[in-house]
Order: sequence, then structure tokens, then C-alpha cells
Amino acid sequence: MNRNLTFIGGGNIAQAIIGGLLETGFSRDRITVADPSKAQGTIIEQLGVPWTTDNLKAVGPADLIFLCVKPGLAQPVCEALAGSLNQKCLISVAAGVTTLQLKQWSQSSLVIRCMPNTPALVRSGMLGLFADPSVDPSIREAVVECLTSVGITEWFEREADLDAVTAISGSGPAYFFYLMETMITAAEKMGLSHTTATTLVTQTALGAARMAHQNHHSPGILRQQVTSPGGTTQAACEALSQGGFETLVIEACEAAKVRSETLSGT
Ligand SMILES: NC(=O)c1ccc[n+]([C@@H]2O[C@H](COP(=O)([O-])OP(=O)(O)OC[C@H]3O[C@@H](n4cnc5c(N)ncnc54)[C@H](OP(=O)(O)O)[C@@H]3O)[C@@H](O)[C@H]2O)c1
Repeated sequence: MNRNLTFIGGGNIAQAIIGGLLETGFSRDRITVADPSKAQGTIIEQLGVPWTTDNLKAVGPADLIFLCVKPGLAQPVCEALAGSLNQKCLISVAAGVTTLQLKQWSQSSLVIRCMPNTPALVRSGMLGLFADPSVDPSIREAVVECLTSVGITEWFEREADLDAVTAISGSGPAYFFYLMETMITAAEKMGLSHTTATTLVTQTALGAARMAHQNHHSPGILRQQVTSPGGTTQAACEALSQGGFETLVIEACEAAKVRSETLSGT
């Protein structure tokens, strides 16, 4: 890809995307990072990527601008860039910040909203995307090419669907961590050491995720295949079901969606 990329904010998510891009052979010369933090700047420079504290200077050569600041800073940062964006596309990863807000603050309609998740840090992210209709397909393709370096991308036709994305894949890693955390506690109650319990649980989670990800069978079928009548897995699944597991998980996802709608004002 022969586009120039600028990252406004050089923290966790920017470093994850930049790391992924460099791994795929993207040229360091085509990346610029703007961040006021000397600590972040040092990390960026160690990656061989130019760093500046000047956002306006950083967007000068850019074709695609990744807005990677905390949501509360999106407005002042965009307003300071207004009038300098011309035909540059602004891609925001700021949770809850809508494309309408991005357009108003930046005075540009070339905006894309992206909802990543933390596994992007280990190149296994799930990234939901919504583009303003004025963004042409070639820009969409370029953005996907960049973000594919940290995970899988999926476009959504309705911006409101990003609230569901937030509830499922955005917040989802924490649900799995919670389950792992609880299984580790159960294993410790059974007398296993914390280290052994952690190994058993994390390896099991990884294996189960890999099997489900291969898509040969749905998670429901995979569960049935390991659940023998009258066996240990059936005893555990019955206990989960009787305790309201399905209802609870659905309610939890709904609660996250409602919170996302409240935060983004949709
Ligand atoms: N991390 C994730 O997995 C994840 C998942 C979903 C969404 N997001 C979204 O991604 C965005 C960034 O998250 P993050 O975890 O990468 O945050 P982060 O590590 O705190 O990075 C944000 C960076 O922006 C810098 N910054 C502050 N003011 C700035 C300004 N005026 N101009 C340019 N840079 C500025 C910060 O510097 P200082 O440290 O000096 O303030 C910091 O280095 C957030 O909006 C979040 O909602 C992240």
C-alpha cells in the first residue's frame, strides 16, 4: 500500500496497529505518530517510526489518520485539526464517539469509526467498522489492509450495530477472562496450585477457541460432541443451565449494549 499513515495518540492501540503493520512489511517511512508523551515517543522511536508532539505537523503528509486518543480527548483533538484534513480520511478507535460527532468536530465527512478489542495487542483482534457514505471503496480497502495486521475486520451498514459489536467483541474478552478467573478459583478449591490451575484453564480456553474458530462445527455441536450422557461434562452443563447461565450471559451482553448506547448517545 502506498498511502501515508498518521497516528494521533501513540498508546496501546496505536502501538498494536503499528507493530502489526511493521510485521507485514509496511514501510516505516510512511508512518508518523503524534503524542505529547515523551515515554510513548521513546517507544515509538524504538520501533524506528518518526514521532512528534505536533498533531498538525503530523497530519500534513497523511492520507489516513488514525485517531487513537481516549474518547474524552477526541473533541479537542479533532477541533484543532479542523480545516487541515482536506481529502484525508479520519479513522477513530475512540469508544462511543459517533461519526456525526467526528464530522462536526473535524469539519470533514471522510470519517470511519472502528471498534477494536484488546486481543488486537496480540494480533488476534476483532475490529468492527462503520464508514460515512462519503468514504469511497478504495479508502475502505486501504483501512482494512492496515487493520488486518492486528485481527479480523467486519464492516457494518448501520452505525447503531457498533453498540452490539461493543457488547460482544469489544467487551467480550473480559467475559472470557471472568470465566477463566472463576474456573481457576474452582481448580484451587479442588486442591490444585494457582500455577497449575492457570495453565489448565488458559490452555483449555485456547484449545476450545481454536476448535470453535475452525468453523467446521458450531460451538453448540462441539459442546454436544464432548458431552456424553451421564458423564462429567453433562453434570457441569446441567449445573450451569440450572443456575441460569444462558439467561445471565444474554443479560450481561444486553447490559453492555445499553451502556454503549448511553455513552454514544444513540
Ligand atoms: N486498548 C484497547 O484495546 C482498546 C479497545 C477498544 C477501543 N480502544 C480505544 O482506543 C483509544 C486509545 O486507547 P489506548 O488504550 O491506546 O489509550 P492510551 O494507551 O492511553 O493511548 C492514548 C495516547 O494518546 C495520547 N494523547 C493524549 N493527548 C493527546 C493529544 N492531544 N494528541 C495526541 N495524543 C494524545 C496519550 O498520551 P498521555 O499518556 O500523555 O495522555 C496516550 O499516549 C481509546 O479511545 C479507546 O476507547 C482501545
